[in-house]
Amino acid sequence: MINSYYGNKTILITGATSGIGRELALRLSGNNCTLLLLGRREERLNELSKALAARNCRVFTYKCDVSVKREVEAVYTQMKRDAGFIDIAVLNAGVSFRMLSSGDNVTMGEQTFGINFFGAVYFIAELLKDYVPAKKGMIAGVSSLAETRGFPGSGYYCASKAAFSIYLESLRVEHKKHGIKVLTIKPGFVVSEMTDKNEFTMPFLMKTGKAVDIIYRGIAKEKNIIQFPLRLVALIKILKFIPPFLFDILGNIKEFEKQKNMRGAE
Ligand SMILES: NC(=O)c1ccc[n+]([C@@H]2O[C@H](COP(=O)([O-])OP(=O)(O)OC[C@H]3O[C@@H](n4cnc5c(N)ncnc54)[C@H](OP(=O)(O)O)[C@@H]3O)[C@@H](O)[C@H]2O)c1
Repeated sequence: MINSYYGNKTILITGATSGIGRELALRLSGNNCTLLLLGRREERLNELSKALAARNCRVFTYKCDVSVKREVEAVYTQMKRDAGFIDIAVLNAGVSFRMLSSGDNVTMGEQTFGINFFGAVYFIAELLKDYVPAKKGMIAGVSSLAETRGFPGSGYYCASKAAFSIYLESLRVEHKKHGIKVLTIKPGFVVSEMTDKNEFTMPFLMKTGKAVDIIYRGIAKEKNIIQFPLRLVALIKILKFIPPFLFDILGNIKEFEKQKNMRGAE
């Protein structure tokens, strides 16, 4: 039932060269669908394309930096030439920079928003030009449970994901009448190149395959919000409502631990 949902669909995945995006491409590849896979690292795209060659799917790969609007516009035109209408767009490309202070490096802030927020917005602007007249299409944006509060040392990342989640919510309401589905995916900690760099303890860290199973099922069920793992979702719900003074105390304990680890690693 779930596998047949994907049959004959054309599915775009940005950030397909590693982690969640790559695993999702592998998971989708048995379903007789067309995969449009995008990232900046060409050798990784070629390697993935080879890995998928024997599977039951058509694969196109695209080297593109999603933070550059003209690259996104050009690649979208090429995708339509190659595969026609995109049924599902999984906007997953993202970065997280390791910082001692969220005020340290404004360029990192610009890059974080350029990729995590505008990198998706540029695609959505192109997709809507086709989705609105067609009265169909799905946008699945990969945000994060980190959207909930301003976690110390992750100011740019949390802010970019909060902005993305809020933006997706507006889109969902606005475009329901056009038959367009907008899903927000909010993972907790998942094993990937992004989390491999973290030097702090990641509660309820989930294997990539397990996280992708949840995403895979959630998209097929067209769930508005796909969030996991449940224990972290519950914890985050509590964190969301604790008063600022208590958040500051907890944040300072965690921050002390993190800075100690980061300084030790330098
Ligand atoms: N892992 C977690 O714990 C976790 C938790 C919550 C949310 N997320 C979100 O999940 C998404 C996937 O992350 P991941 O954990 O799988 O990390 P990852 O393994 O580092 O993958 C990130 C992907 O984004 C691509 N990317 C980064 N900058 C790009 C750019 N400018 N243009 C095009 N592609 C770009 C990377 O490809 P190239 O380097 O080849 O361009 C890579 O394929 C991200 O949005 C992340 O914020 C992850």
